[in-house]
Amino acid sequence: MEDASAIPETAETDHANAPARALARRLQAGLVGHDALVERLLIALLTGGHLLIEGAPGLAKTRSVRRLADSMEARFARIQCTPDLMPSDITGTQVFRAGTGDMTFLPGPVFHELLLVDEINRAPPKVQSALLEAMGEGQVTVGGTTRALPDPFMVIATQNPLESEGTFPLPEAQLDRFLMHVILTLPDATQELAILDLVEGELTQPPSPPGDCLTAAALADMKAEVAQVHLSLALRQYIVALVMATRQEAEGLNVTPRIRHAVSPRGSLSLAACVRARAFLRGRAYALPEDVAALAPDVLCHRLVPTWRALAAGDTARSIFAEILRGVTPL
Ligand SMILES: Nc1ncnc2c1ncn2[C@@H]1O[C@H](COP(=O)(O)OP(=O)(O)OP(=O)(O)O)[C@@H](O)[C@H]1O
Ligand SMILES: [Mg+2]
Repeated sequence: MEDASAIPETAETDHANAPARALARRLQAGLVGHDALVERLLIALLTGGHLLIEGAPGLAKTRSVRRLADSMEARFARIQCTPDLMPSDITGTQVFRAGTGDMTFLPGPVFHELLLVDEINRAPPKVQSALLEAMGEGQVTVGGTTRALPDPFMVIATQNPLESEGTFPLPEAQLDRFLMHVILTLPDATQELAILDLVEGELTQPPSPPGDCLTAAALADMKAEVAQVHLSLALRQYIVALVMATRQEAEGLNVTPRIRHAVSPRGSLSLAACVRARAFLRGRAYALPEDVAALAPDVLCHRLVPTWRALAAGDTARSIFAEILRGVTPL
């Protein structure tokens, strides 16, 4: 991840972002070295987006989402994906009630506000598309009836790195439904020791229950504030320049021959929303170029597909986008 810095403790405590900062502190207290992940979880909450977290087993993916669920006023469900999962395991099914002789709908896990989809790349394509459709449209259709999903509705999906066997990589078009793709890296020696201390300590002294939960009302208030954060024309042009550089060659760059699918307008809209939320979390009523640069890789890279030739030569979406980020400067 490009940006590993914690949300700085600079803004006044009575700022409108206080509930979000309190939530960040609760998450950070139980996670070692995942400050960037915590910030992205909050940004996704504040913008109503979904998050895809990628990392090797045992990097606290599940733990971070569980902590988030424990610290929020939201109904939580978890789905462990396997190759035999059916779309109805996610959306719900019509069942026959012998007593009354009629059909009733048993809602599936998508009808929870916070949904953890573990190992999404082990789910078969039909399940992935049912889920991603629900994420895109905020509704599901079962047995001919369309039902609205809760609001807010947030999916946090995890996947192990793509080269593992027996998996169904998410189709590129559906990856676009995720606001951000966060890649976790292994901890260093100091962090590893801190993890040992923290988790072993919890065995002898169970963690104290999280204090105040983030209420739905506080979240709604903060979302309204985030929408008010000022994004100057120069910053909008910076966002557009980054996205356009994936489509047409920008001056001084040589990347487009290596790109098969460029970033869509959904990418620029998502980046603008995330940038506003980052500024808000840092106590600012206006966004800065650093907000754009810090979030652009996690917001845009999964929407960018390199050519086979580029992949074979060792390029990745991240490495190509790093060239773009170096070559395109804010006005
Ligand atoms: N950075 C960390 N901070 C705190 N605990 C950690 C950290 N990394 C790993 N752990 C601990 O490692 C264990 C594994 O975590 P968890 O089950 O959340 O991993 P995961 O990423 O979901 O793994 P999998 O991909 O296998 O599901 C937990 O006991 C967790 O507390
Ligand atoms: Mg897990």
